[in-house]
Order: sequence, then structure tokens, then C-alpha cells
Amino acid sequence: MNELQCHLQEIIRAQGPLSVASYMALALGHPQYGYYQSQNPFGAQGDFITAPEISQMFGELIGLWCVQRWRDMGAPREFILCELGPGRGTLMADALRAARISEDFLIAAQLHLVETSRTLRKLQQSAIKRPVIWQDRAADLPALPALVIANEFFDALPIHQYQRMADGWHERMVTTDPSTDQLRFMLSPLPVASADAFPAALRRAPLGAIAELCPAGQAIMTDLALHLAEQGGAALIIDYGSESSAAGDSFQAVRRHGYCDPLQNPGQADLTAHVDFEALARAAQAAGSRTDGPVEQGKFLLRLGLAARAGRLAMNATDEEQTAITSAFHRLTGSDQMGSLFRALALRHPLLPPSPGFEA
Ligand SMILES: C[S@@+](CC[C@H](N)C(=O)[O-])C[C@H]1O[C@@H](n2cnc3c(N)ncnc32)[C@H](O)[C@@H]1O
Repeated sequence: MNELQCHLQEIIRAQGPLSVASYMALALGHPQYGYYQSQNPFGAQGDFITAPEISQMFGELIGLWCVQRWRDMGAPREFILCELGPGRGTLMADALRAARISEDFLIAAQLHLVETSRTLRKLQQSAIKRPVIWQDRAADLPALPALVIANEFFDALPIHQYQRMADGWHERMVTTDPSTDQLRFMLSPLPVASADAFPAALRRAPLGAIAELCPAGQAIMTDLALHLAEQGGAALIIDYGSESSAAGDSFQAVRRHGYCDPLQNPGQADLTAHVDFEALARAAQAAGSRTDGPVEQGKFLLRLGLAARAGRLAMNATDEEQTAITSAFHRLTGSDQMGSLFRALALRHPLLPPSPGFEA
């Protein structure tokens, strides 16, 4: 049994079962044993690979997207360029390199990274060779116009799970099995008092269905949208998940590029859940931002010029590099790979024109 599991068992013994959200938050974010504090999970040697780690083209196109949005905003002389959950900092480093097409953009940008992991903050600083201000929360951004990007951030935020039973929705909890001393799921004995907070599509789900709610994601989206509505600016969120709210159990653990039991070895596997883009968009609209999309990642990247960028990179590449570029292009856009499961959603101040890459 690892140290985090012992710690979780002590909490459960003292306070009773944990919600899936509390379990997820501790397994990922515990200040000492949490996954993002104690591991470097990225890349072929790690547990998973994200789009910016597949190819520099991903971050470069997002950098150009930011430059275009900044021009649409009237090229403010000072603004926040912010990334939520920057991982190793690869996306931001590639974006800043591509943004060199506009020296004024780089001079005006004040770089903020929202990151809770002290370990990853060090990696981010070495990837991004310019002054950075770290924040623990998106709500702490200073009062300036902002451009915010987030790739595979919302899927790491804690979800609550509920199961529909004859007498209503019961929350799914994590407890210890006294006979094996292992963690296991159980259902809360009493149903929730009200399902009013559930999206309408979930309220009609059949018996046995699982509903997932992500109040942390909703709260961050509300903070972001309020900031954009008050200060001006735009945001780009890319993640994997469903276009509209739907029932289903998407809580999963990944270790060494394969799925594993989310309750085994807490703190040593990545835990994620599908993002409900409809719920996120609704929270942003309620807080005063306009939204564009979601659109599939493949379509979004192709509209931003991924094919032209791949062609340009291939011109000066060796045969081996050309094969890598072609493979990255297919991984990012292929409908059997990241192209369809991943989606992009944009937020903008109501006076900004629709976001690049979201045209009909
Ligand atoms: C899956 S990684 C994504 C990394 C990066 N965006 C990429 O595409 O390679 C999730 C990132 O979000 C950070 N993170 C997770 N939960 C967070 C939270 N509640 N607040 C701030 N950062 C968080 C993690 O430490 C990590 O940097």
C-alpha cells in the first residue's frame, strides 16, 4: 500500500467515505503525494502524451490564434497571456516562438500560468525562457484584458459521480473494504435531496445510469467568463469530451500509456473524466461571455492552417523527420485518433468577432 493510500484510508476511517471528487483531488493534487506533484507524466517515457508533446505545430497554431485575437481586441498595450495547467510548458513555449511574428504582441504580453504543482512549475520555467507569474487559481488574474488557453486542463478537475436508483440519484463514494483493506466504490445510502443542479438530459437518464458533475470546472469557467466580460479578451479550451451533456461513467486512470483501476495506486496514475462542453459553455454564457463551438480538434487545427504548417516544416526535413511530421498530423487530426474525441471551445468578450477556427 503506498503512502497516499494509507493517508486516504486514515481520512476515510476518521471522516467516512470520500466523494469521487475528493478522492480525485487528493490523488492528483495532494501537496506531497499527489500525481502532479510527484511524477513527470508526459511523453513516451511517462504515462500519456498530450497534443503539444506530439508536435510543435499544435502550440504554434495556438500562438498565432492568440496574436489574431489580440489584434481583434485592438492590440492592447498591456494584457495577460495565461495558460491553465501548462504541464511541461511546451504549448506556451511553442506559442511564444510562433508569436514572434508580432514583436508588439510579445512586448504587451504579461505571462501568467495557473498551476498548482510545484514540480511542474520548475519544468515550465525551464521551457519558457521569459518572466512568468504563477497563480494557484484562475480567479487571481489581475484586472487586465486576457487571452487564456487551456489544453487537457478541465479533464483533470475533480468530478462528482451519481447513480440513478429507484428512489433518486445516489452519490458514488470511495471507501475501504475491511476484508481486503483496498479502496472500493460504494453508493451513498441516501439519495441527493435535489437533482436541480443536473443538466436536463441527465435528469431523464434510465435506472443505473451514471451522471457526472464537475463543479470545479463550472466555477473556473464562470471566473474566466466574468473576467473576459469585464476586462475584455478571449479564451481557448481544448479537451476531450462530449459536445452535449450525457450520462455515462468516464472516470478513468492511465499509467504507462494504458488504462488501469482508478482506485489502485492513488497518486501514481493520471485520473481524468470527459469534459461536458455543453455545461462549460452554459456557465460561460451565464457569466456574460459569448462562446464559439465546440468544434472537433481536427477541424479546428485544419482551419487554422495545420496542413500548410506541416508542409512548410516538411520542406526542410529529413526523411525521418517527414515521417514524424506526417504521423503527428494524423494523430492530431485523424477521427480515429485525437481529431474527433478532442474538441475546442472558445470564449470571447461580446464585442469581439467570432473566434478564428470556428467558422461554419
Ligand atoms: C494533463 S496535464 C495538461 C498539460 C498541458 N496542458 C499539455 O497539454 O501538455 C494537466 C495540467 O493541469 C494542472 N492542474 C491540474 N489540476 C489543476 C488545478 N486545479 N489548478 C491548476 N492546475 C491544475 C496539472 O498540474 C498539469 O499541469
